[in-house]
Amino acid sequence: MLLLGIESSCDETGLAVYDTLQGLLADALHSQVAMHDAYGGVVPELASRDHIRRIIPLARQVLAEAKIQLSDLDAIAYTAGPGLAGALLVGASVAESLALALTIPAIPIHHLEGHLLSPLLAETPPTLPFVALLVSGGHTQFMAVEALGNYTLLGETVDDAAGEAFDKTAKLMGLPYPGGPALSKLAEQGQLGRYKLPRPMLHSDDLEMSFSGLKTAVSLLVRDAPAVDYPHIAIEFQEAVADVLSTKALRSLASTGYTQLVVAGGVGANQRLRTKLIERCSKRGAQVFFPPLRLCTDNGAMIAHAAGLRLAAGTPLDLSAGSFSVKPRWDLSSLKPI
Ligand code: KG4
Ligand code: ZN
Repeated sequence: MLLLGIESSCDETGLAVYDTLQGLLADALHSQVAMHDAYGGVVPELASRDHIRRIIPLARQVLAEAKIQLSDLDAIAYTAGPGLAGALLVGASVAESLALALTIPAIPIHHLEGHLLSPLLAETPPTLPFVALLVSGGHTQFMAVEALGNYTLLGETVDDAAGEAFDKTAKLMGLPYPGGPALSKLAEQGQLGRYKLPRPMLHSDDLEMSFSGLKTAVSLLVRDAPAVDYPHIAIEFQEAVADVLSTKALRSLASTGYTQLVVAGGVGANQRLRTKLIERCSKRGAQVFFPPLRLCTDNGAMIAHAAGLRLAAGTPLDLSAGSFSVKPRWDLSSLKPI
């Protein structure tokens, strides 16, 4: 079955064509990062307008790359939430109206389900069940993934998401948005141990996490430190996040008895976090899986892929009825097993 996937929940317009037999045939992305940079964060109205501008040209591009026509499509998948309401509505209206015109189903997909299943697109994918660590700009959660649609929240951040902490910390150092990649690049020139930062909730006997105190601690250091020392602070910040996430990851594996950890979401692109998770988990006989690097951040491929798995598992599909809604807030554990 051939699916078109549309992602427009935040500041990336992602389109992809996915074949349930052959895999990913084409994917294309337009990032709005440069546009939002001037404002230090995503401006929702600008995001929606830019999705409108990009979505049809990108759809044409992936159809051409996949060498297929619109009429070859069997279904259209789109991110229905969580995310920015206006941005979600752009993808949803394009998907639903195309589906209506083509008399094929439109499949609403949970953005985080897209992320957490995306490591299955890797050359050596994990097998179910596994623990998923979702680390993005809006979420930092451990999920037990027992089966498609059967997700149990094991623990999450009580305040800022890890990506949000990266972004805010980077801003304190005058780095461009999004802060994660910029801060980790700066950290490459830093030396560990020159500055000290806390590891919040490291020893709490659960899977809860907290990152806002870390950001506050950095703001105190940055206030007094000369700018040449920022790389040393950046590397310590990155290490603190990696320490907390890897310690909690080990705990999540111990508490579920699972031996596979899947890391998804933008912060999963962080090289230090990757190395630390692999080192610590392999010592305990557990394996760590990552999506291909370019699929770590938001993209249409993960949306088409999740819909493909749902189709293959026999999710009942309705032809587009011409009415639809998006869910800016949507709890992943509320999805039903298929
Ligand atoms: O999953 P994502 O693309 O969007 C959502 O939030 O859904 O994640 C974006 C987040 C941003 O906070 C960004 O700073 C962070 O992922 N990020 C990184 C890296 N690349 C992206 N954080 C740390 N290191 C990176 N290399
Ligand atoms: Zn995301």
